[in-house]
Amino acid sequence: MSMKVAFVSKSVTKKDLVVVILDESLEMGPNIIGIDKEYKGIISDSINSNKLNKTKGSSLTLIANKDKKIQEILIYCIGEIKNYNSDKADRIGGSIFSLISKSISNLTIYVEPNKKHKIIIEDLAARIVHGMKLRSYTFFKYKLKNKSKHNFALNQIEIITKDPSLAKKYYSPLQSLEEGVYLTRNLVSEPANILTPKTLAEEAEKLKSLGVKVEVLKLAQIKRLKMGALLGVAMGSANEPRVVSMTWNGTKNTKSKPEVCFVGKGVTFDTGGISIKPSGGMQDMKWDMGGSGVVIGLMKALAGRKAKVNISAVVGLVENMPSGKAQRPGDVVVASSGHSIEVINTDAEGRLVLADAVTYAINKFKPKRLIDLATLTGAVIVSLGPQRAGLFSNNDELANNIFNSGEKTGEKVWRLPVGEEYDDDIKSAIADMHNVGSGRGAGATSGAKFIEQFVQNIPWAHLDIAGVTWAKSNSELYPAGGTAFGVRLLNTYVKDFFE
Ligand code: BES
Ligand code: MG
Ligand code: ZN
Repeated sequence: MSMKVAFVSKSVTKKDLVVVILDESLEMGPNIIGIDKEYKGIISDSINSNKLNKTKGSSLTLIANKDKKIQEILIYCIGEIKNYNSDKADRIGGSIFSLISKSISNLTIYVEPNKKHKIIIEDLAARIVHGMKLRSYTFFKYKLKNKSKHNFALNQIEIITKDPSLAKKYYSPLQSLEEGVYLTRNLVSEPANILTPKTLAEEAEKLKSLGVKVEVLKLAQIKRLKMGALLGVAMGSANEPRVVSMTWNGTKNTKSKPEVCFVGKGVTFDTGGISIKPSGGMQDMKWDMGGSGVVIGLMKALAGRKAKVNISAVVGLVENMPSGKAQRPGDVVVASSGHSIEVINTDAEGRLVLADAVTYAINKFKPKRLIDLATLTGAVIVSLGPQRAGLFSNNDELANNIFNSGEKTGEKVWRLPVGEEYDDDIKSAIADMHNVGSGRGAGATSGAKFIEQFVQNIPWAHLDIAGVTWAKSNSELYPAGGTAFGVRLLNTYVKDFFE
């Protein structure tokens, strides 16, 4: 459902709801004073009666006059405004959205807090809308009956600020970011009978309309490139694999190497293969393509806002199924890099896919740095839970920059080790390496260690997003379901360090 957004300096039409944003001073701006007068002091009375406190998130809903222009008034206090950052501002929007009743179809937000502070109100206004949009995502396309029951009515947001055109300027790149986030959430929400390697590649191809160069490798080409590790995983499935590369050249210098190449794990369904998973909860493995979903959504956001940077990306798309053609535990495969791999556990398939995707990415693009994303291990969920993704890197500067972008956007990461003390974890008796740890813990590190074998010493970071890709419950900026964790983080990382 699309929500219309308008930044204006005065409200004209009748509104279901007016949202009044106040800071810790609880002082009303000029427009609010006007409404207060018109409604016989309803706002000032409630402020004076101490029903609202000065802390962040304190709110009050007032019933205005059903016959008049406004039906309902929501007062929302954002608390101390001094140290406002973009993440906090986004979260205000998200929490306001969750306070709005499902029957409201249009609303006006007044963003005019105390003038004493140095923050840019138009930026805050844009961020509030952004937060509302992020929180209001739904995936109801398969609910064919009683559709409206499961939805909300809100379809129009009007924001009153002093300089609407400035607010619009702030909002425009955020809108592109939302479109990227929505795409990623749609992709991870799709069931695996609909989203196969083929149809996921077709989704990536749609980015061509935004100026992204997209190339899709099919089975014959993947075989020609000798991607034995990826092909070993794909063998068991009737759905053929795909490898997709994407290029966004936002600078005039199209010959310069990409600042970053993003690589994503795209296992459209992970049964575990012959090392089959238990049936309970297996449906979650439809979002085992989360890494590739983030990479595709991120490319959409970057291209949508015409980011002035050259970025490339590769996603490896396969389905991991058991069958008479599936690979077996103990099989030895040879990756396109020339490394042989003993496949101890066919459920450790993500790293096999990434081995060839990373090799392809480095050979094709020669990027200055590479960041891969993957729902790689259950072990990272044990370590960090749904609060943070695991970060692994061979480069301190790259790791610190990603960490800081995480703190800034609220999509937080925590660095875990991939040092040489873990080298023995992946040693195989008969091949160059095997695909699992040696059974002495540190499972998320074993996965990273394996991928590291293919990065050819360029600055590299690996984000294990297994714990953060899918949310069991609602949060300030997303409803339960696909979070698109990584899109906002890496959009900010690219913006802050390369534009
Ligand atoms: N896709 C899973 C990891 C995963 C688990 C993602 C739970 C999201 C939620 C991955 O392919 C996998 O099966 N990993 C194994 C590796 C093991 C066999 C070394 C795991 O974590 O158990
Ligand atoms: Mg697996
Ligand atoms: Zn997997």
